[in-house]
Order: sequence, then structure tokens, then C-alpha cells
Amino acid sequence: MVLILATRNPDKIEEIQQIFQDSEAPLLSLFDFPQIGPVEETGKTLEENAVLKAKKVSRSIRKVALADDTGLEVEALQGRPGVHSARFAGPGASYEANRLKLLKSLQGVPEEKRGAVFRCIAALASPEGRIVTFEGVCRGRIGFEPKGEGGFGYDPLFIVEGIGKTFAEMTLEEKNQVSHRAKAMKKVMEYLKKKEFGDQLLENRE
Ligand code: IMP
Repeated sequence: MVLILATRNPDKIEEIQQIFQDSEAPLLSLFDFPQIGPVEETGKTLEENAVLKAKKVSRSIRKVALADDTGLEVEALQGRPGVHSARFAGPGASYEANRLKLLKSLQGVPEEKRGAVFRCIAALASPEGRIVTFEGVCRGRIGFEPKGEGGFGYDPLFIVEGIGKTFAEMTLEEKNQVSHRAKAMKKVMEYLKKKEFGDQLLENRE
């Protein structure tokens, strides 16, 4: 079975390819299907957006598609930016603009109140319209300044609980041991191994 990643985000593709490197399913992405246009993320939740993306791609190319929608939920901001993480600083905002906005929003907030969670929802969709979702979370806190050169998005600001380093200070392999995305994708891999896809509709939540 070929698995199509319903994304053109090279950072996500790189991470997910590393996670799936030992699996039997070859991974393609939307870079291999230029005919598929962008999917508007109009959902109100991460789950709705992940399902939207997986469904559209799966229907278009008649193959199983895998989508990821991720949000950063900051306690002191009552769970924001959450589903709006990609556009926290405005539509089309750069990673850097979003990071600056986050730091600004947390100005004066002490370390003990900077707790945050990365939440990833992975959705698998089959051309027949079957959907299954998986969740992965990673706990941490938001630093006072960016640290590290690796990763993408909010990685330089997210200090992983129990490790004390930002995701950007970790190698890709280290991030993939503990990240929200890796946890969700490992559940996807287990599910696909059981070869139940297409026979069952199940919700798998942490
Ligand atoms: P989406 O899942 O493409 O909607 O991602 C939302 C935004 O969250 C992205 O634009 C990134 O800024 C950020 N993001 C998603 N995953 C990660 C991650 O693993 N590390 C850091 N930032 C991330």
C-alpha cells in the first residue's frame, strides 16, 4: 500500500518520513500530485482540519491518505493559538512572526505559568470514505527566547518536559522519540500493521 501524505509542508514531510522509514508503506506527498490544489483549513478543531485534508486528497487520487493537523496550546493563553497556530500572527504569517507574537503574548508571564502542549491529530482516510484519527501530545513550556537551530515553527521556543531542551536543540531523531507528531504517527503505523484499515472505524485517543 502506498501512503500519501496530505501536505506540502517540507518540515512535516521530513519528520514523518523519518518516523515511517522502517515501515513497508512507501510515502509520497502532495509534491508528487501537483494537480491537487491547496486544502483550506476551515475546521474549528485540529481533528476537523486533519479529516478535511485527508478526505480531500484520498478522494482526489483514490488512495489512502494521511494528514496531520497540529496546534500549540499555551496554558497562560487559555489554549491559544491551538487550531490557529499557523496563522497566530495573521494569515500567511512566517514561523518567525508567529514565534515573536507568542513571546510578546507571554511578556511578563513567569516560568511556572508558561506550560504548553503540542497536540497532533493524524487522520487516515480511505477512498471509500472511511476515516480514523489518532492523537499525540507532548508537554513542555514556552521559553523566554528562541534556542536551537533545528526543527521548524515554534520548535525553538518549546522546551520539552523532562528533557529541558527545546525541540530545536534536538536532532530530528531525538525529536521523533518524544514529539506529538511521532506519537500520533506511531499509532498510525501500529494501526496499519494490523491491516484493519477499511474494515473498521475507530477512534484512538490518548
Ligand atoms: P498545521 O498543522 O500545518 O496547521 O500547523 C500549524 C502550525 O503549527 C505550523 O505552521 C507551525 O508553525 C506549527 N507547528 C506544527 N507542528 C509543529 C512542530 O512539530 N513544531 C513546531 N511547530 C509546529
